[in-house]
Amino acid sequence: MILVTGATGNVGRHVVGGLLGAGRPVRALTRDPGRAGLPAGAEVLRGDLSEPETLPPALEGAEAVFLFAVPGTASAFLDAALKADVGRIVLLSSLAVDDAAEVQPNAIGAYHADIEDAIEASGLEWTFVRPGAFATNSFQWRPQIEAGDVVRLPYPEAVSAPIHEADIAAVAVQALTSEGHAGARHLLTGPESLTNGDQVRVLGEAIGRPLRAEEIPVDVARQAMLRHVPEQIVDTMLHLQAASVGRPALVTDTVEKVTGRPARTYAQWAADHASDFR
Ligand SMILES: NC(=O)c1ccc[n+]([C@@H]2O[C@H](COP(=O)([O-])OP(=O)(O)OC[C@H]3O[C@@H](n4cnc5c(N)ncnc54)[C@H](OP(=O)(O)O)[C@@H]3O)[C@@H](O)[C@H]2O)c1
Repeated sequence: MILVTGATGNVGRHVVGGLLGAGRPVRALTRDPGRAGLPAGAEVLRGDLSEPETLPPALEGAEAVFLFAVPGTASAFLDAALKADVGRIVLLSSLAVDDAAEVQPNAIGAYHADIEDAIEASGLEWTFVRPGAFATNSFQWRPQIEAGDVVRLPYPEAVSAPIHEADIAAVAVQALTSEGHAGARHLLTGPESLTNGDQVRVLGEAIGRPLRAEEIPVDVARQAMLRHVPEQIVDTMLHLQAASVGRPALVTDTVEKVTGRPARTYAQWAADHASDFR
């Protein structure tokens, strides 16, 4: 059996689906089974990475774990995983982790690196799946797109290579179920570098309505983001966007190397999710 944490998330749902599709028994962890909406083939269990007493029953009999990174929870999780004799851990980490840095340059890299370091020190077999910007970040534009044809954002020219959540999950499923990924740090991106403005336009094409991006002052955007996201993370996100302007985003071919299929384009993501924006 494979334990999937973060099973109700953008990536975790596809991990659950991919494992079930490959015929592997899945236990899916969620803090609220009543709202999880997970496939009937999965054993759904209530648990919380912040509540260590919920971990032993979740880990019992688990040959492998897909681990969602919740800050401050690694130590208790790893203690429980060692006691349960878990075979391997595949961590959903982040491309923000900088292997060359002694001190991580930003808050997003720092909390993922803390968890990576603890896993490495545990002696358990591991794979770190490190995606860059998710295409699902575009969901933040949904209220504006439902309300009109203009998406107001702070950096229309900021670039990223947005990755489809199904591709991240496909890599994780390979790492959970096949050999050759122990000690790998898989750096994952989508197949093309796009500006925020490009993404808004491509979304419009998928929805069937012309959309355009319009620049707003950074401080206005910051105040809005602070309603949902901690300050350090907001400032990191804005800093990364500002720093990306005018430079093509890193594009890797790791999705294709690991899964045998090219990474899905942002246009594909937009087509898959067009109904979410209508
Ligand atoms: N967005 C990006 O561009 C980006 C880029 C690189 C890396 N990442 C990383 O990817 C992750 C986000 O992935 P996602 O979009 O798939 O997630 P998501 O859709 O935001 O879902 C969050 C998941 O985390 C689970 N969760 C939250 N707190 C938990 C806790 N205390 N114990 C157990 N489960 C908990 C939730 O489960 P329940 O609510 O069901 O309990 C839910 O399944 C983050 O770690 C982020 O740093 C994101």
